[in-house]
Amino acid sequence: MYYVGVDLGTSAVKLLLMEGTGKIANIVSREYPLYFPNPGWSEQDPEDWWSAVKEGLKELIKDCDRSQVAGISFGGQMHGLVILDKDDNVIRPAILWNDGRTQEETDYLNNEIGKDRLSKYTANIAFTGFTAPKILWVKNKEPENFAKISKIMLPKDYIAYMLTGSFCTDVSDASGMLLFDVEHKCWSREMMEICGVSEAQLAKIYESYDVVGTLKPEVAAELGLSEQVKVAAGAGDNAAAAIGTGTVGDGMCNISLGTSGTIFISSRNFGVDKNNALHSFAHADGRYHLMGCMLSAASCNKWWMEEILQTTEFGKEQAAITDDRLGNNHVYFLPYLMGERSPHNDANARGTFIGMTMDSTRADLYQAVLEGVAFAIRDSFEVAKSLGVDIRSSKICGGGAKSPLWRKIFANVLNIRLDIIESEEGPGYGGAILAAVACGEYASVEEAAAKLVKVVDSVEPDPELAARYEERYRRFARIYPAVKELFPEIS
Ligand code: XUL
Repeated sequence: MYYVGVDLGTSAVKLLLMEGTGKIANIVSREYPLYFPNPGWSEQDPEDWWSAVKEGLKELIKDCDRSQVAGISFGGQMHGLVILDKDDNVIRPAILWNDGRTQEETDYLNNEIGKDRLSKYTANIAFTGFTAPKILWVKNKEPENFAKISKIMLPKDYIAYMLTGSFCTDVSDASGMLLFDVEHKCWSREMMEICGVSEAQLAKIYESYDVVGTLKPEVAAELGLSEQVKVAAGAGDNAAAAIGTGTVGDGMCNISLGTSGTIFISSRNFGVDKNNALHSFAHADGRYHLMGCMLSAASCNKWWMEEILQTTEFGKEQAAITDDRLGNNHVYFLPYLMGERSPHNDANARGTFIGMTMDSTRADLYQAVLEGVAFAIRDSFEVAKSLGVDIRSSKICGGGAKSPLWRKIFANVLNIRLDIIESEEGPGYGGAILAAVACGEYASVEEAAAKLVKVVDSVEPDPELAARYEERYRRFARIYPAVKELFPEIS
């Protein structure tokens, strides 16, 4: 049988066709536009996602025996607000996870409702990118749109809805809405009241590996698939990537370097960091996880190369960053191009270079960009360590993880071993695994991950280099506190 994993990302959707044995039969990707209508805002059109998914699916399965396609599931960009009216029309463009417009609503939630109450109701506090502050923003700034809301969805749930007609979500993605009681895996009455929404406007909650429906007849006909194809709830992209890299069970770690950068720690038990600096979410394996998320990771690399240097020769630019330069750069970069989430929770934070001299080179600045992202992940790693989580190694996935240079920088900045998985397609592969579990090909997510996910390479830290990076990280960690007062004025 075949299983499809749909990785609904921020720059593109990637679709992956997996055989029951775990072998990847095909991968297809379709891009769609991302809009920044105001500084710090970030939007997409859900209808663009849907067209890209349909076109991508047709291409994905064009050469396979379609009668063998048994299931579809997802890893989706998290937190995005998709709102539909009573006739199922999309009311306004989706407001994405990296949109910083909701500072006022976030402050209201954290300061007036209070972090303690939020944490008690949901296990988390408010961040500008989370869904509840966006609902409040629509309520305050676009009351005519708020009045029309019939359904509130997350990005991948819109695709599941279009495929099946089932108004559903899963526990991992629901966790990032700040409307969900993560510990008890149900909607929080208190949060619904605070946001002025009713349970009827929210989706039915499933575990990630649950079947939510089968293809609508007209969709099945258009795609050339059977109406019996099962669709599983799927997961937020980070939880799906964790499945795709075998980060399941207790105390396992995955670092994802996509548009965002995340550090994800799986846990058998529910737990909350007392400062809520890390997110406490449900996992797609039926358990829980902690996660730190930085808003610009591989996107800093892309920005530096494509916007600033105006080149796409990543290999050539990285080749100039020779081994002897690692750990010796005097230039630092704060990678906060879209503000920052974990652990600073500061939508006003901005990208910052510091330390240049007349002899600083193009390679020094590029190196600072790559190192700045690794240092920022280390910030969340430090929070996890302070909670007593003992991380000796991590998986690494996402577009940024393809660079051997960046992997080496990460292994030494974090001073841990990094394991590279046979398939780098974290969320897409995780989505396909969830579909396979939903269809009964495997008894559980843990069993599937143990059988399918293979480590093919590892990067060990070098003690001398790690020591140099330790010193540099200590310096990096002092830059944000020293300049943060300036950011509200600058932004
Ligand atoms: C996680 C987060 C991002 C998006 C990216 O909290 O906001 O990783 O899910 O797609």
